[in-house]
Amino acid sequence: MNITMVGSGYVGLVSGACFADFGHSVVCVDSNRGRIEALKAGRMPIYEPGLEALVAENVRQDRLSFVTDLDAAVAQADAVFIAVGTPSRRGDGFADLSFVYAAAREIAGALSGFTVVVTKSTVPVGTGDEVERIIREANPTAEFAVVSNPEFLREGAAIADFKRPDRIVVGTDEPRAVAVMEQIYRPLYLNAAPIVVTSRRTAELTKYAANAFLAAKITFINEIADLCEAVGADVQAVARGIGLDNRIGSKFLHAGPGYGGSCFPKDTLALVKTAQDAGTPLRLVETVVAVNDQRKRAMARKVIKACGGSVRGRTVALLGLTFKPNTDDMRDAPSLAIVAGLQDAGATVRAYDPEGMEQARILMPAVDYAENAYACAEGADALVIVTEWNAFRALDLDRLRQAMASGGSAPVLIDLRNIYDPASAARHGFTYCGIGRTAESVARNGS
Ligand SMILES: NC(=O)c1ccc[n+]([C@@H]2O[C@H](COP(=O)([O-])OP(=O)(O)OC[C@H]3O[C@@H](n4cnc5c(N)ncnc54)[C@H](O)[C@@H]3O)[C@@H](O)[C@H]2O)c1
Repeated sequence: MNITMVGSGYVGLVSGACFADFGHSVVCVDSNRGRIEALKAGRMPIYEPGLEALVAENVRQDRLSFVTDLDAAVAQADAVFIAVGTPSRRGDGFADLSFVYAAAREIAGALSGFTVVVTKSTVPVGTGDEVERIIREANPTAEFAVVSNPEFLREGAAIADFKRPDRIVVGTDEPRAVAVMEQIYRPLYLNAAPIVVTSRRTAELTKYAANAFLAAKITFINEIADLCEAVGADVQAVARGIGLDNRIGSKFLHAGPGYGGSCFPKDTLALVKTAQDAGTPLRLVETVVAVNDQRKRAMARKVIKACGGSVRGRTVALLGLTFKPNTDDMRDAPSLAIVAGLQDAGATVRAYDPEGMEQARILMPAVDYAENAYACAEGADALVIVTEWNAFRALDLDRLRQAMASGGSAPVLIDLRNIYDPASAARHGFTYCGIGRTAESVARNGS
């Protein structure tokens, strides 16, 4: 199949490279000239494990190419995927669909022969209808079908997720479009990934419902963690105790500093707006959004409390800045609110992240960036683990403690991801503060 991907960011580039790897012929288009030039030169615009090699191999096999002008690529495509951004709109938080509609207009003029136009971007219910209207208006004789095919990949595990999805959702009632989509996804279908064919509106809503559910699950365990701290229980043990129940499942039950990233914050907000406009407010999701927003700043207060109530004039070292490991994505990362809260309280913030510092420097210029975890800890009064990169899971705690300020009392380790054992941290001379657990509660529960 000939596939054109409009938008070569996280989703467009990963999907395009994976489709090429299935044997399809893929052209990735992006309006950002610098991005396309970099891709042509073999440089990835994002950090994603395995992506560079996958792109290189498929370029070498002549199945994957990059262009800025979409006309020729769209004209010969069996399917054109729209994978442009849908960020939160300034002011009201609804999804900004201007990139999607602009892409639809550009695609309309270049269509030739029956073409499936696939919306892979996360878009509110009814966007497919508008995309169809725009194309029909711009090119009344075009033969096309607009399909919703939301993407469920996770940053940091994007290639594996794309190649081994739990399901593929295809929203259309046009049989010819279903046939094209089945052909495109055939390699996965053969691997037994179920294809769920629905109406277009149902597919659009399915993506938002999935993200809102996962965001709610994270928020639920975060609130349970707070309760654990108040009553002396251990949230890790509670999560295990409920997660072993098949009806609940163990995923997304890791208490932490709140969800962030390029999807959950904006998608939950857009769903809230859609539901309000439809006259059926989703009060549960509204609460999830509010609780999560407050939590990020509350993490700065937690650090300050763990430091004895004040960080004025003190140095706080942060390990991890990205919203999760294995990505350089800083969008809506909890670290942004934590750093702001600590700086507002008079702290000097030093930070280290394996991949996120280039982006972080733009967003947080007043942070002092270190070259590695140990340099980050040098002379600091407190060490905060914000993102659970593997490189932070087995740090030499003695070396860290020795690098930190020795103002008499034990330095503080604030572990916002619960990756260290409180008793072991104490043995290495740290005062430990985790999420929803203390040395006593962990000892009692043996988790
Ligand atoms: N990032 C994720 O993990 C993820 C997962 C699932 C779904 N999604 C959804 O996928 C969509 C894309 O997200 P992303 O993270 O890949 O965004 P991104 O910002 O990384 O990439 C979007 C790209 O589209 C390009 N673009 C914009 N308008 C264009 C146009 N008219 N023609 C050509 N290129 C154009 C931009 O230059 C940019 O490179 C969003 O709707 C997002 O919600 C993202």
